[in-house]
Amino acid sequence: MSEQKGLILAIESSCDETAAAVVEGGHRILSNIVASQIAIHAPYGGVVPELASREHLRNIVPVVRAALDKAGVGLPDLDAIAVTEGPGLAGALLVGVAYAKSLAFALNKPLLAVNHLEGHIHAVLMAHREMGNGRSLALVVSGGHTHLYVVEHGGYRNVGATLDDAAGEAFDKVAKLLGLGYPGGPWIDALATHGDPTSVAFTLTQVKQKAHRPGTRVDRFAFSFSGIKTAVLRFVQIHDLYPSIELRREALAVIPSPGPADALPLCDARTLGLIASFQRAVVEDLKRKSFQAAEALGAESILVSGGVAANRELRARFAEEAGRKGLPIAFPTMALSTDNAAMIAAAAWQQFQAGGFAALDLTADASLALGTK
Ligand code: KG4
Ligand code: ZN
Repeated sequence: MSEQKGLILAIESSCDETAAAVVEGGHRILSNIVASQIAIHAPYGGVVPELASREHLRNIVPVVRAALDKAGVGLPDLDAIAVTEGPGLAGALLVGVAYAKSLAFALNKPLLAVNHLEGHIHAVLMAHREMGNGRSLALVVSGGHTHLYVVEHGGYRNVGATLDDAAGEAFDKVAKLLGLGYPGGPWIDALATHGDPTSVAFTLTQVKQKAHRPGTRVDRFAFSFSGIKTAVLRFVQIHDLYPSIELRREALAVIPSPGPADALPLCDARTLGLIASFQRAVVEDLKRKSFQAAEALGAESILVSGGVAANRELRARFAEEAGRKGLPIAFPTMALSTDNAAMIAAAAWQQFQAGGFAALDLTADASLALGTK
């Protein structure tokens, strides 16, 4: 290995972003390139796995090249190659893993295998290194995950997860149902500010041990977001919002790259109230369980990360509650909230220092778990 500046090239391809970053010493971001596939998947209202793999194949070489160019480093300057091993879409992950392995082999550099969820947690820790000391409660909330972890001494204990949809998935599905764009989170975030969040009373499913399938373990702080999606659907049916949804869908379809500002004049007060109430209910549920878990498990701080951590109401409500409880709280920067490779390099740093390198027979693990139960 070269004299240690600790230059890591990280590659992330677990879902619908092809990303590469060069990070020095685990926190100094020299480049962070993300090629989004949003436009490819938008017509389908969700990620199509086969299309995602194909796009990763198309993007991986130029994205890695752009990351190196932007950082002003050449391949020989690197100290290690890090890659997301899982969890995520199998075919998508394989593109990054195969490419990273080939690079590591060809350059004779060490390979580091990173858990995507640990990456999300490091997206916060990169900018708030002081939070890495002591015991923290981390909420990872994205399109594919809603997990609670106790983070301590660089290790993770999973203390809660969703039993069905991830919170971001609920945002995406509700947005799709209401004729809004993909991914739905940013649309709902923007439109919710124009609606009355108390106009529709939603209750989130309270998961009870005995209500769950016998023989399976239920986390103490389990989430469930499929019920609220159905409740939104029921509201749409009862108030016959379909004609206005159809009009909105058609109007947005003819606008090149439409955004929430285009949708606003196409939403009546009832729809905006529905959107705001949905968001409020999801955010309140995430907040309540996160703070309950933090208190019950003796956490000294709260870390919130993942795509949904970009939500403005979530940030405001969590910050308010943390202030009330006197608990330090941290979020990633907006750019590091959604999927990126800088967070993968940050998570790889500890492994790099400890010499925890992956073998060249590394393969993708679509359901890779993080930490102990
Ligand atoms: O972390 P991420 O980029 O990918 C996964 O690992 O899933 O998260 C994407 C998810 C999507 O479901 C998207 O709708 C949601 O994050 N999201 C948001 C916001 N921005 C992105 N949800 C709510 N409010 C936002 N502002
Ligand atoms: Zn993610």
